[in-house]
Amino acid sequence: MRFSHLATALGATHLAAASVATTAARGPYNETFDQYCGNGRTEGTLTVNGKKFSYYCDVAQGTGSSHYVKLSTPEKCMDVCDDDDDCSIAVWDRSLGQCWLGQPAGTRVPYAGRMVITELDPLASCQESLAKYKPGPPTCAASDRKIAEVNDTSFYIVCGQVPSTMTKQEGVFNNLEDCLRLCTTSSACSFASFETQRKLCYHSSEDFVSTKPNPFPDWDTGVKIPR
Ligand SMILES: *[C@@H]1O[C@H](CO)[C@@H](O)[C@H](O)[C@H]1NC(C)=O
Ligand SMILES: *[C@@H]1O[C@H](CO)[C@@H](O)[C@H](O)[C@H]1NC(C)=O
Repeated sequence: MRFSHLATALGATHLAAASVATTAARGPYNETFDQYCGNGRTEGTLTVNGKKFSYYCDVAQGTGSSHYVKLSTPEKCMDVCDDDDDCSIAVWDRSLGQCWLGQPAGTRVPYAGRMVITELDPLASCQESLAKYKPGPPTCAASDRKIAEVNDTSFYIVCGQVPSTMTKQEGVFNNLEDCLRLCTTSSACSFASFETQRKLCYHSSEDFVSTKPNPFPDWDTGVKIPR
């Protein structure tokens, strides 16, 4: 936000007198800062008016303006920026809630207690939507699909589906993970399906996964991902 726009903002549009009164920052805003940057977090995303932005912790960056407004949260700071076509970066400081607005100038540099908020990094939104495909424990929840790892073997977890041909396995299986673990020991096993009511484990050597939704709610299946 350029100075002329800042003047506009401080006038009638973004920061009407009433809103200044309720958002006037006193500081320090350590608790607010820690909500975003506590526990050593270095970056994340925050949402303003349903729109996501990337933020970076304990860094500062030039905005082309030395003027600031005082706002008590990074959201309020980015909200003003989002309203202005000439603003694409907001910098917020926890000490007094200073909010600098403008265009990025130079690179981000370490600065304790300050946050840089910008347009959503495309990688951040990608990583967020990929999160459910990251390896995790093999569980079936609703029709979630995700990657699980058992004994260094990855499985694509498909809920409520079974391959059309499969062989019942002998043994005691408490959960899908037990059934998948046995599957890791056999190169012929490409699917492992666990029946959750009777705790039965079936293996299959098929190489096809149906896209049909959940016809078998009691079945959790892992499809081995070849290395
Ligand atoms: C806020 O955090 C800063 C930096 O850690 C510290 O110097 C200051 O004393 C804190 N203020 C309050 C009120 O906790
Ligand atoms: C799988 O992991 C178990 C321990 O969790 C281990 O006893 C077993 O030897 C492993 N099997 C393979 C094939 O790596």
